[in-house]
Amino acid sequence: MATKEEIIQERLPRHIAVIMDGNGRWAKKRGNQRIFGHRSGVKSVRETVEAAAELGVSYLTLYAFSRENWSRPSHEIDALMNLLVSTVNRETKTLMDNNIQLLTIGDVKGLPGKVQDKIAEAIDKTSSNTGLKLVLALNYSGRWELKEAMRQFGEDYKAGRISQDMDEQTLKYYLTTPHIPDPDLLIRTSGEARLSNFLLWQMAYTELYFTEVLWPDFRKENLYEAIINYQSRERRFGKTSDQVVRNKTKNNAPQYG
Ligand code: FPP
Repeated sequence: MATKEEIIQERLPRHIAVIMDGNGRWAKKRGNQRIFGHRSGVKSVRETVEAAAELGVSYLTLYAFSRENWSRPSHEIDALMNLLVSTVNRETKTLMDNNIQLLTIGDVKGLPGKVQDKIAEAIDKTSSNTGLKLVLALNYSGRWELKEAMRQFGEDYKAGRISQDMDEQTLKYYLTTPHIPDPDLLIRTSGEARLSNFLLWQMAYTELYFTEVLWPDFRKENLYEAIINYQSRERRFGKTSDQVVRNKTKNNAPQYG
């Protein structure tokens, strides 16, 4: 099992994104309803948030509900929404105690009113916290985000509120993440190896880490293992390996983006 001590503090990923997958399969294996898996996954959320905060990670983004998840059976959607409300309610004190700020990305206005209210309350309460930024992706999808960014840009352009041409910086401003650095590391549990419409623009240079562990079994040690694996990689951002090594020697520090 990986330990915290093996992690090189100076090379900590600044932003970790997680696709929490495998709740349904975990429950089924135990002869239970899918929602039992989601409920059990909350412990993994708590462990991951706690471990990230303890390590000093700056941003942790959790894919909690995608726009595609609306096509699940309505009783599962209702149960997930209730779970969100009860978890945010119960954990707001933990966020306060650990100096964690809660943020969201996604079309939160499309969520049931009680979820919107609870989330807004927790965002407000934690807004002055200066430690880990915990970003919940709710009613989110990457293509929706890109489409919305272009729609909004078009509207602003037509109305004369903006005059410059579209470039990467401008597009970044119109995404849901203008003040959030791109993820350095993506973790997806349950053995599936795809992005599922998550942070498509932002993950252009993200290191991808897939593990067979099902989300309800994910513990701090699994996060450490993912970070240690990330730290063994060479991030080149389009450069050659030689250039990256030369730069490291010149600046006496590794180049991490
Ligand atoms: C994917 O597993 C998981 C989800 C769609 C929801 C994740 C939600 C939680 C862990 C609950 C609470 C979260 C927060 C942030 C309070 P799946 O259902 O697709 O599993 P399967 O692939 O095995 O069917």
